[in-house]
Amino acid sequence: MQARHHTQVLVLGSGVAGLAAALAAAEAGAEVLVLSRAPDPGQTNTARAQGGIVFRGEQDSPQLLAADILAAGAGLGSPEAAHFLATEGPKAVEEWLVKRLRIPFDRRADGSLDLVLEAAHSVPRILHAADRTGAAIQEGLLRAVRKHPRVTLLAGYQAVDLLTTHHHSRRTVDRYSLENRCLGAYVLEVATNRVMTVFAAATVLATGGAGALYIHTSNHPGSIGSGLAMASRAGVRLLNLEFIQFHPTCLYVPGAPRFLITEALRGAGAKLVNEAGERFMKRYHPRAELAPRDVVARAIVDELHRTGAECVFLDLGGKGKELAQRFPTVAETCARYGIDIAGQRIPVVPGAHYTCGGVVSDLQGRTTLPGLYVAGEVACTGVHGANRLASTSLLEGLTFGLVAGRQAAAQAQAEPLEEDLRGAIPDWEPVPGPSNEDPALIAQDWSAIRHTMWNYVGIVRTRERLERAVADLRHQLVRLTQFYRTTPISASLVDLFHGCLAAGLIAEAARRNPTSVGCHYVVD
Ligand code: SIN
Repeated sequence: MQARHHTQVLVLGSGVAGLAAALAAAEAGAEVLVLSRAPDPGQTNTARAQGGIVFRGEQDSPQLLAADILAAGAGLGSPEAAHFLATEGPKAVEEWLVKRLRIPFDRRADGSLDLVLEAAHSVPRILHAADRTGAAIQEGLLRAVRKHPRVTLLAGYQAVDLLTTHHHSRRTVDRYSLENRCLGAYVLEVATNRVMTVFAAATVLATGGAGALYIHTSNHPGSIGSGLAMASRAGVRLLNLEFIQFHPTCLYVPGAPRFLITEALRGAGAKLVNEAGERFMKRYHPRAELAPRDVVARAIVDELHRTGAECVFLDLGGKGKELAQRFPTVAETCARYGIDIAGQRIPVVPGAHYTCGGVVSDLQGRTTLPGLYVAGEVACTGVHGANRLASTSLLEGLTFGLVAGRQAAAQAQAEPLEEDLRGAIPDWEPVPGPSNEDPALIAQDWSAIRHTMWNYVGIVRTRERLERAVADLRHQLVRLTQFYRTTPISASLVDLFHGCLAAGLIAEAARRNPTSVGCHYVVD
């Protein structure tokens, strides 16, 4: 890529939302550049999604699906957004995933799509590709993107900051113009530490959520809220950041990364037991293991505090062999750590799973900054409200990715970036001299952020914990900002800076909301 690069549509992120946006924009005639932070664009949160994607059940309707989505959102979801997703989502699944990309969803003996029932859904309406639904969708989308002549996909590029007329243009007229506009992004080439100026008439933020800001998470390590941080620095509106959904069961092997153990296992009969082998969920909720996700997560935390243990266990009882076949990804991953799920219990802890809030978006993926679109977990479309219904994340990423891509292409064609405006944007000013970056300090900073988020902005929150989190993160951010200004840029520094700001934004949103609702649970 050139040091100053120009494209019509820039997509940041290569999960379901980013790739759907890229395909839609390219089909609408735009030249698209997709950048992924990871060296392998297939390594995303999408690829980790074991559970399925909502489709359309036999006795189903958009009204019924929207009602389930809104009920899960604890009254804070937008009925308009939920109805839009419930109407457009299943159509997008049918057209793109089933017909065009031919994703290998599980089918019944008669060849029809196998629709499964999941917790809090009124009817069986979920499609699965065994327990690797997200990976199958990721692969299908990547194949299509790589084949498309108008899409360029580059891996190993990390967005540093969004370019805006108000913040970056040297032209006085732009500084005082009433309409601020996104002009693309400063982007770091991870392998060389060079920062490129990437201009785009429309930019789609699809950088995912923020689960990796927590010690335990089901998320890809790149989910550090980078899109939240960049949008906030550009003055874009964010909403509902306090609503972090925790998944009750992530594989717990000390020293190894956490890994989602799908709740379909509990649906299939797995029981939660403590170290002593006692089944404890009945003490917490009449539906025991099948209680709502956040109730189960809180019960596990309580059990861990009560017993002093590091984890609880999923006991598959006599069904181990059968379930190992039904859930091959879970079985293979556990086997990698010496756990044979056919006969052994699976050690689990809850983990941060989904960022329900994010960058505010309308039903066309538009943010409050003209020229900036958003899709997927980084967005707050209003669909999820205070909590997310299972198997709606891939659906939302696909549906809003497609609309955001179409809108971005339309804007790029109608309002191209003039050359003299581009000329008024300076290149990134590198800090000269040798790096004084210390890996031990960076590791310590990350550990502090993750402990602060887990202990103070976690599954169970108190006013005092949240006050402390905000104070600690603010202090850390001030120190990092000073350091950032005085040492040459690197990928690890940019990550840390993004992560610390995103953590601060989430903590502050949680501190400001004294009401327990959805997945924001404040005991006092
Ligand atoms: C799971 O499979 O347990 C997670 C599914 C989801 O979060 O939608």
